[in-house]
Amino acid sequence: MTTAQPGSQWKGIVLSGGKGTRLYPVTRVCSKQLLPVYDKPMVYYPISTLMWGGIRDIMIISTSEDMPHFKELLKDGSQLGIRFSYAIQPEPKGIAQAFLVGEEFIGSSSACLILGDNLFHGDASFLRRALQEESGGTIFGYAVSNPSRYGVVEFDKSGKAVSIEEKPKRPKSHFAVPGLYCYDNRVIERAKALKPSERDELEITDLNKAYLKSGELRVEVLGRGMAWLDTGTPESLLEAGSFVGTIERRQGIKIGCPEEAAFRMGYIDARQLMRLAGEAGNSSYGQYLLSIAKEETGGLIEDRG
Ligand code: DAU
Repeated sequence: MTTAQPGSQWKGIVLSGGKGTRLYPVTRVCSKQLLPVYDKPMVYYPISTLMWGGIRDIMIISTSEDMPHFKELLKDGSQLGIRFSYAIQPEPKGIAQAFLVGEEFIGSSSACLILGDNLFHGDASFLRRALQEESGGTIFGYAVSNPSRYGVVEFDKSGKAVSIEEKPKRPKSHFAVPGLYCYDNRVIERAKALKPSERDELEITDLNKAYLKSGELRVEVLGRGMAWLDTGTPESLLEAGSFVGTIERRQGIKIGCPEEAAFRMGYIDARQLMRLAGEAGNSSYGQYLLSIAKEETGGLIEDRG
């Protein structure tokens, strides 16, 4: 077992609530974060991102209606060598509310929040670096062509972040803030101090502004090698699915595969991976898990462990 990884001291939160109204009618009876992005449920992607970062203690926050489905899909996490906890957000009152819903779970740890509809692909070292920080907050900047749809961070000439605005009509830069946020334990008291915005939400951008104001916010720009996609609209969902499908078919690898992350991070061994492959049946997903387990063991372990 690997315990000295940076993320092991952190608690992870996947925020997977909300009503998904921009995807109606698809999301009328199904959680947005359980919709497929190419070949797996959307929530697999953010969960894998946290796991690749080294985080093994993860809380899923969702609505009371959708929670049974998340629990059925993800179980207690022991099959992946990690731990899943679950908490309900009764109303979607803002992304920063995740730290209040998750207060007890976070305890005295630092907390890394990822949105259940955000998809990252690339080397996870950017997150591992952030998880080595012991105080303050780390968020990221990612160049996009349509910054007005996001939180937008502005830098001065020396590359220091000087402002953050939520969905500005006239963005001061083309750097969006992706839905992945790392904070020290003071995030709980800072979230408690937030006032609801005009749309009656505890805004994540206000939380980031509080860290920025006290000089405790690091903003790391994600380079060209990283892909960050969100999946909140029919167009972006389709684009994300096409992106994943293109890479997966071209390279013969899978993006956002928690079982693979668990195996490669040393949370489970080849025998456990074989078992998970067996549970996935004769799907291409199951075949993929099997191929990784076999490749690593040189085919020495029987298919169903
Ligand atoms: O995707 C990154 C962007 O996410 C950031 O750049 C913005 O600063 C941030 O505000 C957020 O913008 P969105 O417009 O995407 O936020 P949205 O309200 O759509 O929520 C994002 C996800 O979080 C969505 O899957 C639902 C979930 N959510 C949201 C809220 C407000 C909850 O589970 N509970 C909530 O209360």
